[in-house]
Amino acid sequence: MGKLDGRVALVFGAGSIKPGGLSNGKAASVTYAREGAKVVAVDLTLEAAEETASMIREEGHECMTCAADVANAQDIATVVDKVIASYGRIDILHNNVGLLEFTTFEKTDEAQWDKVMAVNVKGMFLASKAVLPHMVAQGGGVITNISALASVRYLGPVVTYMTSKAAVNGFTQSLAMEYAAHNIRCNAILPGFIDTPVGLSVYDLGDPSTVEERVAYRNSKLPGGKPGDAWDIANAALFLASDEARYINGVLLPVDNGVMRLSPTAA
Ligand SMILES: NC(=O)c1ccc[n+]([C@@H]2O[C@H](COP(=O)([O-])OP(=O)(O)OC[C@H]3O[C@@H](n4cnc5c(N)ncnc54)[C@H](O)[C@@H]3O)[C@@H](O)[C@H]2O)c1
Repeated sequence: MGKLDGRVALVFGAGSIKPGGLSNGKAASVTYAREGAKVVAVDLTLEAAEETASMIREEGHECMTCAADVANAQDIATVVDKVIASYGRIDILHNNVGLLEFTTFEKTDEAQWDKVMAVNVKGMFLASKAVLPHMVAQGGGVITNISALASVRYLGPVVTYMTSKAAVNGFTQSLAMEYAAHNIRCNAILPGFIDTPVGLSVYDLGDPSTVEERVAYRNSKLPGGKPGDAWDIANAALFLASDEARYINGVLLPVDNGVMRLSPTAA
């Protein structure tokens, strides 16, 4: 018996920006499938979604793929129509897409601001808007939004990212309250330092020989001296999607080994 037997999980951003890389979206998709869910893997390109689907199918599970831009309402409507036509329901909506742009406020222009807000925030709005009527009609569901530790802690010059993820937190709590009466739970995961291709990309400043040094320095500052991996995020998402979390709603769950508790002056 899987924890998600008979459920349909729709994952936006199910691929990885680095082909072959293990992203949060890929690990969550595989984890949902291992627990019995039929997974719909959606990404900007079909190739990215198919890579995740191959991992799932190799383990003998079912996975449908779609290409869609989360910032495009028509793309999302097409995906949701396809899922409903095939499976008749959507039990889990997993909003994983999030762009990270490392730029100071001074260097951030209006186009960058609009792009990050459209993908990171409007994307979750559009996906929820399209999926929620189906969850209401079927009598329940779960939405899990991938936020970030950066939504509540300054981690460097990422003003668009920090602002967009703080908006994801507010959006999550708002949906949680509005839809609790429909047996729909909405929570956010705040990943800390997670060694996915995106997470590691911030240490790559052009000189490959310094990446290892930067990562080692970062690790030395983390509680327990270690980063997380994509499975840590996927396991938290599995818990939130499962019946074991049936009374957990509107939560902003850090998955960070406690790094949020650190003071900059901690010994
Ligand atoms: N890795 C970390 O350390 C870390 C820390 C905090 C938060 N996060 C969050 O985790 C999430 C992503 O992590 P990941 O490892 O899966 O990253 P990833 O970027 O490798 O995977 C996300 C997928 O989203 C896809 N995508 C990008 N723009 C899209 C769009 N407009 N429409 C549809 N798909 C699109 C990409 O092609 C990619 O395959 C983000 O929300 C990020 O903010 C990661």
